[in-house]
Parts: sequence; structure tokens; C-alpha cells
Amino acid sequence: AEPLRIALAGLGTVGAGVIRLLAENGELIARRAGRPIEVVAVSARDRGKDRGIALAGYDWHDDMTAFAALDAVDVVVELVGGSDGPALTLARKTLAAGKGLVTANKAMIAHHGMELAALAEANGAPLRYEAAVAGGIPAIKGLAEGAAANRIERIYGILNGTCNFILSEMAATGRDFADVLAEAQALGFAEADPGFDIEGTDAAHKLAILAAIAFGTALDFASVDVTGIARIRAGDIAQARALGYVIRLIGIADCDLAGQEAGGEAQLFQRVAPYLVPVDHPLAGVTGATNAVVAEGNFVGRLLFQGAGAGDGPTASAVVADLVDIARGNTPPPFSLPAALLAASVPADP
Ligand code: HSE
Repeated sequence: AEPLRIALAGLGTVGAGVIRLLAENGELIARRAGRPIEVVAVSARDRGKDRGIALAGYDWHDDMTAFAALDAVDVVVELVGGSDGPALTLARKTLAAGKGLVTANKAMIAHHGMELAALAEANGAPLRYEAAVAGGIPAIKGLAEGAAANRIERIYGILNGTCNFILSEMAATGRDFADVLAEAQALGFAEADPGFDIEGTDAAHKLAILAAIAFGTALDFASVDVTGIARIRAGDIAQARALGYVIRLIGIADCDLAGQEAGGEAQLFQRVAPYLVPVDHPLAGVTGATNAVVAEGNFVGRLLFQGAGAGDGPTASAVVADLVDIARGNTPPPFSLPAALLAASVPADP
């Protein structure tokens, strides 16, 4: 069978992970996908850097936005990051050219997901972004498929591995905030600017994406109310413990759909904040860079998805799972929003 030909933009932790995963599991992936998945072109800022992977066989491009025009490419994988700038230019060009786009870029999807979804649908181009939310956990697929028949009453969870690592490590060891943050950075979990982690912005990006999937509403990052963990002290953690709680940075959302069903706006509540979680609640046991997503559906009951929320292996795993879907032709619309509502929610002047 014809291979699915990939251009890979960004060779950081996750990009290098994708190359290693395809090299190691390539045969079983080809069997499952029905065709091989082959990286043909790559692009990254620094060509000479040693990443521990062999890049000799790939067509190297200094300008990744050129990927969109390459006949030899079926799908572009964007692992550059940043809500705007080159990543967004690449995404728009790729979808406009009718090519598939797989991205781990939660900031870009949170800010521009409606526009990109509309572009994808207009051009018959698959758009997949499982790796943007909760690393290796198939949270988006789990919600879109496992809860497809449900009205989701509420969704909440631990969506930032760095903050969870900081809060659980401070509680377990009494180490201070800055020390644990430095370790999260060294382990490769934190954002390039860790302010996105500790101010709660990264969790808010992910919450807005999950809420749109869970409730079938337009993605609305701007209305997430966000408080991060920068002001949490060791004393807060000790006092919480004395009261029978742990502190977790939680993203939580619910939605009253009555307005949308009447042709208007849904009432969406979206918040990211440090919450007190009772010690016997399942989320209290989630420690380290682990993420957890809880969804409550009116027929399925409570679903809990838990797993590695960051890191090269888990995130690469989600990226390649999206590629397998595209190779199989399993590409549902990127958001389950009625066409008229999708069109209406695209900014007029993107
Ligand atoms: N900085 C993010 C986190 C990486 O700590 O969860 C995964 O999105």
C-alpha cells in the first residue's frame, strides 16, 4: 500500500520522540494503519544540533511553511508551538492546500481552533490534535467517542503536569517551589516559558479544548477564568493537609446548553484554579507529572482517564495515533459543532 508521507516541523523533545517511535514500532504501526507511515521531510531551528536520532535520510527544509506546497507530503505534523507566528502560518497553509495537519499545539488550537476547523472542513483536510491535551491520554478521543451518546454534565481534571509535579512534590518532600520547578524544567515537562504552566494558562488552553469537545460548543478560551499556583506556599499545603485535603490545580467546566438549543449562546462555565481535593478523592492520588481527566455523562456515569500528561514518549504516542487514524481514513470533523455555529464562531479577520 502507498505510504502516508509526513513532513515534521519541530525536532524538540516530542519531534525526536515521533522519529524514534516510528523507527521502533514502524512495522506494527504499518500493520494497524494498513500502510506504512514515513517521515519524508523535516524542519527545525538548529540543523546541527545532536538529538540522538539520524536525520540523514530526510529532506531538510529551513522554512517549514514550504511543507504545504510539497507534492510528496500528505500530512504535516506541527510540533513547533506558539499560538501564532510560524506555527499558525504553517497550519493555515497546510489545511488550505488540502493536506492533513496533526499538531500538539494546545495554545494554537485554543486560540484558533474554530478557524482551523472551518478551514479543514472547507478543504476536506483532516485536522487532529490529540497530543495537545493531556499528553498520552486519549482524552479527546475518549470524550468524542466514548461519551458520544451522552450529555456531559461536567468535565474536570489535572491538565498540567508541571503544576501537579510541583504541588505533589512539595507536599511529599517539603521542598520549595522554585527548586521543584527547576527539576520539572530539567525533566522536559515545563513549557519553554514556565509562566504558562504556573500561571494556569497551559491548563486553560487544554480545558477550553476539552470543553468544546465535551459540550459540542464553540471553543471559547477567552472566557476561562484562570488562577495559577504561583502564590501557593508550603504553609498552604500543610494547612490543607491538616483539614483533610490536598491542593491540585484543577480545570473544571460545565455548560447549560438551553441557550444554544434555542439558536443562541450556550452558558459555559470554565475555570482553572487551585482547588482543595479531599484526600480520598481519586484526583488526590494523582501525583507527579501525571494528568487525569474526569467526565460525567448522563448515561455512562463517571469516566476517569489517567496517564502521563507530558514527556516525549507519551506525547509522541498521541501524535502517531492521530497519524494512524489519518492513514486509515478515520477522520471525523475536528469539532462536533453544527456547520452554521462553526462558521459563525470563526473570527471575521483572522
Ligand atoms: N508543560 C505542559 C505540562 C506540557 O506540564 O503539562 C504538556 O502539555
